[in-house]
Formats: sequence, C-alpha cells, structure tokens
Amino acid sequence: MRFLTGIKPTGELHFGNYLGAIRPALSLPGPGVFCVADYHALTSVQDAQALRDNTIKMCAALLALGCGVNDKIVYRQSKIPEVQELAWILSCLSPVGLMERGHAVKAAKGTGASINLGTFNYPVLMAADILLFRAEGIPVGKDQHQHVQIAQLLADKVNYRAGFELFKSPQALISDVGIVPGIDGEKMSKSNHNTIPFFSEPSEMKKRIFGIKTSSTPREEAMDPNTCTVFKLYQHFATPAQVKTMELNYAMTNYGYGNAKTDLLEAINGVVGSSYNYYRFLTSSYLEGVEIELVKHEQMIRGIAQQTLIDVKNVVGL
Ligand code: ADP
Ligand code: TRP
Repeated sequence: MRFLTGIKPTGELHFGNYLGAIRPALSLPGPGVFCVADYHALTSVQDAQALRDNTIKMCAALLALGCGVNDKIVYRQSKIPEVQELAWILSCLSPVGLMERGHAVKAAKGTGASINLGTFNYPVLMAADILLFRAEGIPVGKDQHQHVQIAQLLADKVNYRAGFELFKSPQALISDVGIVPGIDGEKMSKSNHNTIPFFSEPSEMKKRIFGIKTSSTPREEAMDPNTCTVFKLYQHFATPAQVKTMELNYAMTNYGYGNAKTDLLEAINGVVGSSYNYYRFLTSSYLEGVEIELVKHEQMIRGIAQQTLIDVKNVVGL
C-alpha cells in the first residue's frame, strides 16, 4: 500500500504538522510520498520570494527528518504538472454544492472574507494529489478528514465511469494525537500565528515555549494538567513514565509552570535531536544539494503520474 501526505509551504514546519502527519507517516512501512503543496500554498501566499523560500525550506525540513530515505519520496507539487490536468478532470465530476460545504469555504463564509477560486477548488486539487499517485493510505491530521472523504468520492466517480476499479478508495489515517494546541491553546497552525516551529533556533525555541499561555494558578495551589497546554504538549514528546511524573508534579506546590516549561523544552529537544544540525546545514550551505535531491525524487515518481493521467483520460474520453 502506498501512502501519501501533504503539507503547504505557507511557513515553517511546526509541531502540529510533525505530530499530526509527518511522524505518523514516517512510522508507516512501504512506499510513501510527501507532497510539498506549493500550488495549495498559492491560494494564500502572495509574495513570490516567500513562497520560493518556504517551499525549499519545507523540503529541506522533510529531508532532514528522513522523509526521503529508501522508498520514501519528497516532491514539490508544481513539479508534477499532471496534477493540474487531473484536477481539471476531477473538477468536472465535482458538485458545486459539495465544494461549498468544504470547511475552508464555510469558514470564509462565516467571517465574510472573500475567497479565490483556488481556495474553492482546494479539495479537488488535493484529491488529484492523492489519486495521481494511486495512494491508498493518507496520514493527515483530523482537520483534513473531510478532504480525504472528497477524494474517496471522486475516486468512486471515476471508477463508476470506468466500469472497473481504477482507483482503490484512499483511506484517511488519522493519528490519535488529535489537534495539537499552539502557544495560545488554540489549534497550532501557521495561519493562527501560534506555532512552535520544529527547527527553531535554541533561543527562539525557548522563547516560544516560555511564551505558552498558562493559567494564573498561584504557586501554592496545585495546577490542573488536563487544561494545561504545556502538559498537553508534553504528552506527545515524553515517555509514559515522564508524563506520569509531570502529572504528579502538577499536584505539588513546589512545581510551577516555569518548571513544566523547562521539562517540555528538554523533551522537545530530545525529539528534534541531531536533525536540527542537518536541517541547519541543508538550509544554510547546501540548498543546491536539496534541489538536486528533489529533482531526483521528482523524476522517479513522475512516471506514475503520467500513467495515471493516461488511464483517466481514457476513461473520460480525452
Ligand atoms: P497549517 O494548518 O499550519 O497550515 P497544513 O495545513 O500545511 O498546516 O497541514 C499539514 C498537515 O499537518 C495536515 O495533515 C494537517 O492535518 C496537519 N496538522 C496541521 N496542524 C495540525 C495540528 N495543530 N494538529 C494536528 N495536525 C495538524
Ligand atoms: N490540504 C492539506 C493541508 O492543508 C495539504 C495537502 C495537499 C495534502 N495535498 C495533500 C494532504 C495530499 C494529504 C494528501 O494540510
């Protein structure tokens, strides 16, 4: 079974992305594909240089985490242009009403913000990413479940037209981490400006972690771990025994949020480990090496995309 996951280069890789999608994807056996979705990012990023920088840095981050090793591939969405042809074909099978229920569109309607057609078509392009590589397992955070369901529906529609199962139904693989909170306690997201970037420099990492919003429980009172963002994050990085210890510490009066944040920082540094130095090396002095690596990966998988497109064109009569 091939898996595929995607991430928008709208900023730096953060712990929500890592825990919700990248770490679960890395734990899967078998061939895997990591899509850096620069066409998707274009729906919200208007600065060309920022998009270029974010894209190559996001790829470097994925490579530093080992996403491009063995039968795993990292590619830039816009380097596989077949995705746009497939997206057009799929858009002709997509009911407008369904797109209107897409959560990005609904959220914009709720706030009265105007959206572009790219945002409207966003789930169709994502379905094209998934179907183009005939991916069957889609490791994503909970917020992407609806988008994978749309991909399933479009796979069914193509299969119905074909009269045979051209596409296996893609399945969302939602990790049990749930929604990872950001430093303000809301969903960690680049668009919420509340992230802890995975490859933050040490002083910045400390600043972000010590900036996590906590309750104003006085030092002499016990703290409630269940409502505390520091504790919620700690659970994702520490061992069960360490989590138990922190829980007990929360009941003690001589343990404050400063102590908890120091413990969280240490646990996070343990997870980032040596990938930090690799990422810094790649982004500060070896971006041309990243580019060469990416081109290699893109050449390796483009054939699958081309074959899928031929098959789908045959089905629809092109
Ligand atoms: P962002 O919301 O920061 O723009 P993306 O939309 O690029 O991030 O998300 C990439 C992947 O990371 C998706 O699978 C998404 O579900 C997952 N993800 C993003 N934020 C979180 C979060 N706070 N908790 C869990 N998973 C997340
Ligand atoms: N839309 C996803 C997000 O916002 C990113 C993405 C693009 C993706 N293409 C994908 C995720 C394909 C999984 C599979 O997070």
